[in-house]
Amino acid sequence: MSFDIVIRNGTVVTSTEELTCDIGIRDGLIAELGTDLGPATRDIDATGLIVVPGGIDSHVHIAQPQGGGVVMADDFASGTLSAICGGTTTVMPFCLQEEDKTMREVLTEYHAKAEGQSWCNVSFHLIVIDPTPQLLGQELPALIEDGYTSFKVFMTYEGLRLNDLEILQTMDCARESGALVMVHCENEDAIRFLVDKHLAKGNVSPKFHAVTRPIPAEREATHRALTLSEIVEVPVVIVHVSNGPAIDEIRRGRDRGDTVIGETCPQYLLLTADDLDTEGWDGAKFVCSPPPRDAESQVACWEGIKDGTLELFSSDHCPFVFESETGKLNPAGKKSFKHIPNGIPGVETRLPILFSEGVSKGRLSLTEFVRLGSTNHARTYGLYPQKGEIAPGSDADIVLWDPSLTVPISQDKLHHGSDYTPYEGVEITGWPVTVILGGDVVVEGGEPVAAAPSGQYVARERSPYTRA
Ligand code: URP
Ligand code: ZN
Ligand code: ZN
Repeated sequence: MSFDIVIRNGTVVTSTEELTCDIGIRDGLIAELGTDLGPATRDIDATGLIVVPGGIDSHVHIAQPQGGGVVMADDFASGTLSAICGGTTTVMPFCLQEEDKTMREVLTEYHAKAEGQSWCNVSFHLIVIDPTPQLLGQELPALIEDGYTSFKVFMTYEGLRLNDLEILQTMDCARESGALVMVHCENEDAIRFLVDKHLAKGNVSPKFHAVTRPIPAEREATHRALTLSEIVEVPVVIVHVSNGPAIDEIRRGRDRGDTVIGETCPQYLLLTADDLDTEGWDGAKFVCSPPPRDAESQVACWEGIKDGTLELFSSDHCPFVFESETGKLNPAGKKSFKHIPNGIPGVETRLPILFSEGVSKGRLSLTEFVRLGSTNHARTYGLYPQKGEIAPGSDADIVLWDPSLTVPISQDKLHHGSDYTPYEGVEITGWPVTVILGGDVVVEGGEPVAAAPSGQYVARERSPYTRA
C-alpha cells in the first residue's frame, strides 16, 4: 500500500536514538519506519535535515482573562500559529477558574475560543483558585475522567494564590482522582512584604519586580510545596524553576523518594534581572514570575536539565503587547512594577532556543532535545505514545529542522500577537523548516502554508506518575 507522504534521507531522532531511515505517513499516522520505503503521493527530501517529533509545550497561557483592562496579546489563532512556526505541534494552555461559573462552563468558553482557530493541537490544564467542596468533590473528578488530567495551583498572586490548607485539599483531590498537580512556587507573603517596603520608598520601576521576588521566596515555596505533596503522597510538577537553590529542593525531594517533575523555561537560560533594569520602562518587557535571575542561576538550570532534575522545557508563553493601554504599559503598569502584567511571549522561540543553546552549542544530544521539548511533556501529561515520539502508530506530528540555518531572533519574523520579543537579536543556529501536523504539511520554508487551521483538541489520559 502506498503512503500519503514519505520523508526520505533525513536523520530521524526518536526519544532514544538517532536513525537513518525514511518515515512513511498514512491517514495522519506514522505507518512505517524503514529504508527505501515504497511510493507516496508526496516525497519530502530531508537530506541534511533533522527529523523529530513535533514539539509539545505543556505550559502556555492563551486568551486567559486578566481583569483591570489588561488583555493577553494572543488569541488561539495567533498563539497556535506562532507555536507551529516554532516547531511546536501541541500546546497545553490553562483554563482559569472564574467566580460565579462552573469550571465546565469556563472550559466550554475556552473550547469555543480554540475550535476552528487553532493551527496546532490543543489540550487544557485547569487552574484552581477557589477549591470549594463542590469543585474538589464533584467537578474536578468528573473533568479528570473526561481528559482534563492536570491542574495548576499558585502560591503567589493576590486573588489567585491558595493557602497551605487549600493546597493540601486540592492535592488530596488529585490523589483520589489521579490528576497531576502543577505548583507555582513563590512565597506571596514574603513578596508582599518586600513590595510594600519598596513602594513606600518610591521604588516603582520594573527592576523592582525582580528585587521583590528574590530566590529565597521561590526556594522556600518550593520546599513547602514538596513538603505538602509528601504529606499527601501525591506526585507534583514544580513549574518554571529559575535557580539553583530551588533545583536543590527538587533534588532533595527526589532523594527522599518523592515523585517530583521539574520544569524550566528559556527565560531562565537567556535572561537575567539586569534585563529589567533599563532606562525608562523597557524593563517591563521582561517582567515575568519568577523573574529572570543571574548568570549563576542560568548555569544551575543547565545542570538541572543535564542531570534530569528539570525534565520539561516549556515556554510559559504569557504574551502582552508592550506599547498598549491593555498590555505592559496599561495606566497602572506605567506607574508601578506592581501593576505590570506578569508574563512574556516565547512559544515560537522556545525550541529554536533549546536547539541552538543546547544542540548547536554542544550541551545536549539530539535525543535529549527531543525528550526535553516533546517526549517528556507527552509522558508526564498522559499523551504518550500518541504524541511525543516517532514510532509506527504515533500521530504524524513531525518537524524537520535545518541545523545549519543561522538566524537572529527578530520580532518582524515571529507570528505571535505581541509587539516585541524578549530575545530580539539572539543568534540562533538551527530552525524548524517543515512542520507536519496530523499528516498534513502546515509549515514549509519556515512559513505557514496550510489553507486553514487544522489543530485538534486532545483529551489526555491520566499521567503515568499518578498510577505509581
Ligand atoms: O509571569 C508569568 N509566569 N506569567 C504567567 C502566569 C504564571 O505564573 O505562569
Ligand atoms: Zn506560574
Ligand atoms: Zn505560566
